[in-house]
Amino acid sequence: MVENKPVLHPTTLWDFPKQSYGKTPKGDWRFNGVTPAGVIYNLIIRYTKPGDLVVDPMCGSGTTIDVCKEEGRKVIGYDIAPTRPDIIQNDARKIPLPDNSVDMVFIDPPYGDNVKYSDHPDCIGKISAEKKEFYQELEKVAKEIHRILKPGKIASWLIGDHWRKKSGFIPVGFKIYQMLEKYFEPVDVICVVRRNQRSNTKIWEQRALRYNFYLRGFKYLFIMKKV
Ligand SMILES: C[S@@+](CC[C@H](N)C(=O)[O-])C[C@H]1O[C@@H](n2cnc3c(N)ncnc32)[C@H](O)[C@@H]1O
Repeated sequence: MVENKPVLHPTTLWDFPKQSYGKTPKGDWRFNGVTPAGVIYNLIIRYTKPGDLVVDPMCGSGTTIDVCKEEGRKVIGYDIAPTRPDIIQNDARKIPLPDNSVDMVFIDPPYGDNVKYSDHPDCIGKISAEKKEFYQELEKVAKEIHRILKPGKIASWLIGDHWRKKSGFIPVGFKIYQMLEKYFEPVDVICVVRRNQRSNTKIWEQRALRYNFYLRGFKYLFIMKKV
């Protein structure tokens, strides 16, 4: 393995102490909700070959683009609110690509309305994970991902759960998994350790004890196959 590259995790528990690696920066660590580059690196090394086309329909600060370019994969990154010129403005509920044309999709969508990504009215991150609508809109995205993927290829979907004062625990991950199972077959479920999270502070620790909830220490990475 090339030095300085992230660990290729042989287990279902993934932890990424470094946000960045290699010759170029990957995404923008200041972007609220940035994906650890090592998650995407592990997926594309395992599930694609050089020259394959990878698509990220909600590309944020562009981490998927940067990882794919360094590893010699073709890549298209979309977002409703592009943060840089190589990201194409597009709503993930309608992806402008032909059926069966893509070798892998990676997506790290909003997990509810806990983070403000942009003022764009079509940002799914404006809908609370307490509402049915949130899952309905993400289902439209899942259908599009299924349509553009070649049969036998991988869609990988990162998602985290919530705790809300009013509703208590919201198993966002399980709800998304149930929805994904309608379209895809599971390949594996990975637990991605959360680092640099905003809740990793004394104030949140005290809140968690006072209101009797747990701080979220991990996200799910669902690795799914189009059959
Ligand atoms: C968790 S962030 C993605 C982080 C990204 N992987 C990175 O490393 O920077 C979620 C992204 O979904 C985008 N988004 C929300 N609703 C969208 C929609 N309807 N279509 C496309 N992108 C959307 C947001 O603008 C935000 O950039």
